[in-house]
Amino acid sequence: MPDPKVMEQFKYQELDYDKEIKIGVIGAGYWGPNLIRNFVETPKSRVVAVADFSEDRLNRIHTIYPQIHCVRNYREFFTMGLDAIVIATPPATHYDIAKDVLNHDLHVFVEKPITLQSEHAAELVDLAASKDLILMVGHAFEFNVGVQKLKSMIDEGELGKIVDVEDEAENKTIEVWVE
Ligand SMILES: NC(=O)c1ccc[n+]([C@@H]2O[C@H](COP(=O)([O-])OP(=O)(O)OC[C@H]3O[C@@H](n4cnc5c(N)ncnc54)[C@H](O)[C@@H]3O)[C@@H](O)[C@H]2O)c1
Repeated sequence: MPDPKVMEQFKYQELDYDKEIKIGVIGAGYWGPNLIRNFVETPKSRVVAVADFSEDRLNRIHTIYPQIHCVRNYREFFTMGLDAIVIATPPATHYDIAKDVLNHDLHVFVEKPITLQSEHAAELVDLAASKDLILMVGHAFEFNVGVQKLKSMIDEGELGKIVDVEDEAENKTIEVWVE
């Protein structure tokens, strides 16, 4: 059963946890392969297909996961009977691709940032809600226990008045400056 805090966001959805989720991943550059690996390793999720413009990147995926169907045009996904699409392409492409995918009645996991313009993000949120689809953004650190602990300490006022927070993703450190 997923984290109740995560599911709180989706409480309006009737989800069937016994069902295998068939996934297509768009973008197999730097970050996409991490998502592919995680969805391959997650029980009840099956990565059916991966799309990328780059033949080299598709070949790399095919070598590791010969069972995954590799295509250059993600629109081929729309005839594959998939449940959800993962978007790991450059941010400037997120709005058009996510809109296209939602309009084909598929759930979306899109990497951060959701879009480059807030109006576009709001439009996608409304579109997903109007179709009762999940639209989730890959804010990985929202689910990091260290970050969650820090947030609860800040919320409880344990750290006093915060004047600055510096997050170093590479060194995996967060420095908090207080008054
Ligand atoms: N959550 C995290 O910690 C984290 C870390 C790194 C990157 N990201 C995010 O992941 C996303 C991808 O970043 P990246 O560094 O992997 O970029 P990248 O440029 O390395 O890879 C993007 C891939 O998408 C492909 N692509 C672009 N448009 C496409 C389309 N229409 N159809 C099919 N393939 C297409 C490109 O050919 C490329 O292989 C970005 O949104 C980035 O912000 C998130």
